[in-house]
Amino acid sequence: MRRYSFYLLFLLLPAFPALAQNKNIRDFDQDWTFNLGNVPDAKNLDFNDSGWRKLNLPHDWSIEGQFSKDNPATPEGGALPGGIGWYRKSFTIPETSKGKNISVDFDGVYQKSQVWINGHLLGFRPNGYISFRYNLTPYLFYGTKKNVLVVKADNSVQPNSRWYSGSGIYRNVWLVTSNKIAVDHWGTFVTTPKVSTQSASINLKTTIRNYTGKLQNVTLTSVVYDTAGKNILVKTITGITIKDTVKEVSQDFTIGNPNLWSVDKPYLYKIVSKVTDEKSVSDSYETTLGIRYFNFDADKGFSLNGKPMKILGVCDHHDLGSLGAAVNTRALERQLEILKGMGVNGIRTSHNPPTPELLDLCDKIGFLVMDEAFDCWEKGKAKYDYHLYFKDWHKRDLQDQVLRDRNHPSVMIWSIGNEIPEQSDTSATRIARDLAAIIHSLDTTRPITSANNDPGTNNKIIQSGAVDLIGYNYHHQNYAGFQQRFPGKKFIGTETTSALETRGFYDMPSDSIHRWPNNKNFENGKGQMDAEYRVSAYDNVSAPWGSLHEETWKEIKKYDFLLGMFIWTGFDYLGEPTPYSWPSRSSYFGIVDLAGFPKDVYYMYQSEWTDKTVLHIFPHWNWQAGKTVDVWAYYNHADEVELFLNGKSLGTKKKTGDDLHVMWRIKYQPGTLKAISRKDGKVVLTSEIKTAGKPAKIQLLADRSTIKADGKDLSFITVKILDKNGNVVPEAENLVNFKVDSEAVIAGVDNGDPVSHDSFKVNYRKAFHGLALAIVQAKEKAGRVSFMASSDGLEPATIILQVSK
Ligand code: GAL
Repeated sequence: MRRYSFYLLFLLLPAFPALAQNKNIRDFDQDWTFNLGNVPDAKNLDFNDSGWRKLNLPHDWSIEGQFSKDNPATPEGGALPGGIGWYRKSFTIPETSKGKNISVDFDGVYQKSQVWINGHLLGFRPNGYISFRYNLTPYLFYGTKKNVLVVKADNSVQPNSRWYSGSGIYRNVWLVTSNKIAVDHWGTFVTTPKVSTQSASINLKTTIRNYTGKLQNVTLTSVVYDTAGKNILVKTITGITIKDTVKEVSQDFTIGNPNLWSVDKPYLYKIVSKVTDEKSVSDSYETTLGIRYFNFDADKGFSLNGKPMKILGVCDHHDLGSLGAAVNTRALERQLEILKGMGVNGIRTSHNPPTPELLDLCDKIGFLVMDEAFDCWEKGKAKYDYHLYFKDWHKRDLQDQVLRDRNHPSVMIWSIGNEIPEQSDTSATRIARDLAAIIHSLDTTRPITSANNDPGTNNKIIQSGAVDLIGYNYHHQNYAGFQQRFPGKKFIGTETTSALETRGFYDMPSDSIHRWPNNKNFENGKGQMDAEYRVSAYDNVSAPWGSLHEETWKEIKKYDFLLGMFIWTGFDYLGEPTPYSWPSRSSYFGIVDLAGFPKDVYYMYQSEWTDKTVLHIFPHWNWQAGKTVDVWAYYNHADEVELFLNGKSLGTKKKTGDDLHVMWRIKYQPGTLKAISRKDGKVVLTSEIKTAGKPAKIQLLADRSTIKADGKDLSFITVKILDKNGNVVPEAENLVNFKVDSEAVIAGVDNGDPVSHDSFKVNYRKAFHGLALAIVQAKEKAGRVSFMASSDGLEPATIILQVSK
């Protein structure tokens, strides 16, 4: 929710889309200076930072560093450098802003941030994932005199995370200017106490803050707009007297025939609340509204707007691959689009509060979010993690998370923690109840869960009675007995699966199942990992505490009472390179690799979770003559699939029972492998894979060829290494050099290889299993930008991007 502040002009404006011209919230990301290394004097107003690097936020300094197993983060934390970083920003505030209230909002700084304005310390926030605001007003200069905002981020004491955290001001910063009477920070709470398809009652609570120090008489007018910007309801309360600093005002609305928010049709209304003092409109504040009703039932499972459905979710960490932790809205949107294409409808923000843009996107695109607070409480997991701060800070951090996120229709569940060590400790009763009470004091509309790795009745968090939904991480084999163990309780798979794959790597036989570490066998390429630290992509390897994708999904399907699941994970992420460690530096758990390229199992889910007609066959078709190769097909909307090699049928296969794929075991010969799926004898889909020849040329495919000239927008360019006939060369590792016109920059490069130690911030990348990725970022000038890729011995390629205002 962002604040908009303006004067009477508002009264002349038709509807909320036009409000933008009055908004007084400034993107404060531009023109900072940065120094890596501790410079305590930099907090002073007169410090000379002319030698410092100039940059725009969001910024993650770790992602710019070199991988090393000796970095204190360890490979578990991504093997990139930490340290202490200082940021400074000079700015002026016009004389006309005198008498206003001016604050700065940080969406997140990793970690242990301290912030100064003009030499005055504003505060300290140890939690690297929490959003916070400081009031700058008492310390500002007006007119031509420069103000200096200084931020220190301290990520030097490590390990403090079990995954890659990133370092610095890695989320957005905003300068917010309001009048002295205004809606407070995170100052509205919208709920929909009664919803049906005929009618919805809406309650809006607005907290108004009075900074004038004098008794004020104000009017609050709240207008509900539909998606088209049409004003559909107005409520006004006059004569609100604010004697003290804050006052909460409640307004009720009824909407007939509401457009309900759902994952398929995420309809959003908007409420604009105007605060008027005796003279004029003093503030205007926007709240997003999604009208939906839901039920978590102990027997029937989850339903949204009366429609039974399972939450088909994924867990994700916050990094954006080669962009590191630095938030980029388009990069987040791309991730969500890829997941939506697979049929995912839920996101777990493991294991911390997300960036606000993620929740805005989930509202807009339609995802159900499990918004998680902590990975530990008083007992830590990493030596220097948040447990050091939990006692002093959990209340403030959890309150801020709930206040910030509670208006998002996408947020469905609060999670008070992941695999909390106190599950076995009596202190869990006190802490779990304390956390639940903090949430309940701010929101009683959503259930609370915790993600437990102890599934038993002795689990002290479950025993505390503080959670509404009992969440299991893994323990899939215990799902069956859940209702006997916990009669009448509601049950969710807070974390499932933990299967592992490397995109494009296949190890035979595909039906030999490996549960690390029991089947360690590095020598001959059999087993769960080969000598190059690649894990077979046949969905036949999982962590011992987890299970394969197919195994898990088959189990989950059985139980109507199971509310849903969150697969570990949607995307590969930096850090936690289980099942091994260095030289691997990122995870293998993703259904999609770090560069955003789907692994094969993506299509299993697509065939099960979407209406899209699917026929996906794999592996590639480049093997040694005579090798026995397993060919798998994921398909739907068909009775059978027939496979042909060089025109000769290898037989027709049908899924039977609970099968999720079919398989042929055949002797390899080069040529063309072709699959045909049929329903009632009619062809549904055809899919072909050909033996590729030598690498001959480069192909470039941009996810979007027109991007905005806003200095932030991105085009993700897939780089394919093709043979002369246009087939992807499956083992190609060619080094590709990139060049982009000066109106754009290369923001990151990747290929999805968890073992690569090459920098993400250069203009070259080796292909990995035939693919690489380059991310082009617009500057602020409109025009055509050409992006070129070349490689020794290959025909180069160029692509033109349109950058438009
Ligand atoms: C879980 C844990 C996750 C991740 C995962 C890997 O137990 O909650 O954070 O570590 O294991 O399988």
